Amino acid sequence: MEVGYSYLKEQFNNPDLILSDIRKLVKSGDFTLGRELEKFEENFSAVIQTKYGVGVGSGTDALRLSLIALGVGSGDEIITAANSFYATAGAIATVGARPVFVDVDDNYTLNAGLIEAAITGETKAIIPVHLNGCPADMEKIMLLSKKHAIPVVEDACQAIGAEVNGKKVGSFGVTGCFSFHPLKPINVWGDGGMVVTSSEKMRGKLLLLRNHGLISRDECEFYAYNSRLDTLHAVVGNHLIRHVDWIINAKIENAKLYDDEFSKIPDITIPPRRKGYKNVFHNYVIMVKNRDKLLKFLMEQGIDAKVHYPIPLHLQKASEYLGYVKGDFPATEYQADHIISLPVHQHLTGEQKEYVIQKVKEFFR
Ligand SMILES: Cc1ncc(COP(=O)(O)O)c(C=O)c1O
Repeated sequence: MEVGYSYLKEQFNNPDLILSDIRKLVKSGDFTLGRELEKFEENFSAVIQTKYGVGVGSGTDALRLSLIALGVGSGDEIITAANSFYATAGAIATVGARPVFVDVDDNYTLNAGLIEAAITGETKAIIPVHLNGCPADMEKIMLLSKKHAIPVVEDACQAIGAEVNGKKVGSFGVTGCFSFHPLKPINVWGDGGMVVTSSEKMRGKLLLLRNHGLISRDECEFYAYNSRLDTLHAVVGNHLIRHVDWIINAKIENAKLYDDEFSKIPDITIPPRRKGYKNVFHNYVIMVKNRDKLLKFLMEQGIDAKVHYPIPLHLQKASEYLGYVKGDFPATEYQADHIISLPVHQHLTGEQKEYVIQKVKEFFR
């Protein structure tokens, strides 16, 4: 049996509704900004429970423009998790700031207990990453943010709909950053991103930053970027956003089934499922003995397992200039050698899930 990791192929058996709206857009020729994008910004920020959404070119740009809007630049330090997708560190580095990594906890997210030791006079923001759809320890992180008057920019690119005690991730920080890349649950058939915020000031800056600093067609307040979320992509987003609860719930249900089965296997460590933390399982990640052998075995059986991520950020070649060495972040490094992600997407059939469970059991038998 083949069990794919991505749900893209199955995602829309019938894309005609979306295509008919795209046809209307093509006829109107209204390809930049406009009502369709505003609608998506309203729809999306309503899901995250923030006042505003600003559509941008990608999740990476959502992070970059958030930092620039906060005035971050050369010489500043930004604290983030040592395990994330490269874009988190990339966004920091490409605005001229220095990524300062902090080790992760047993949920694979920023260890709030270690943040304070990393704060210096140059720290200008903290970027917790809700990795794999699991919320970072936001209540503690927000207390630290207040105590030290350091803003939080949430990297929620993998965590649409995740919550801490009923509050959506992305709504804790001064901004929350989301990605609509094709591998994300709400995707826009291409690249796209959104910054959400409840700060009118941040919204105002972001609207200018994404559109050349233009306050009108002929007046430029400051030189900036072209990072608008394309109207065509917003059309797709407006359709898919309607399915967000169904997508999240299906993934949570799949994860629950895996948890129930894998908790019986001693060689598997399931991360703690913290009370009040709604994990939306962008990836279903567990730690296992003999990870590389299991990965190979599952691939041979047609199961598209993956590792998120095998090389932590501080050990990437791109981070050499930061001077980190192996051993700096023991939890991150241990996890990198033991974690495995199993297919958890919303279109898995009962048969496929059963097959994954049986094959994992077979390996550890
Ligand atoms: C944690 C994290 N941060 C940032 C990004 C960047 O998003 P995008 O690919 O839309 O630029 C991603 C996307 O993969 C991500 O997973």
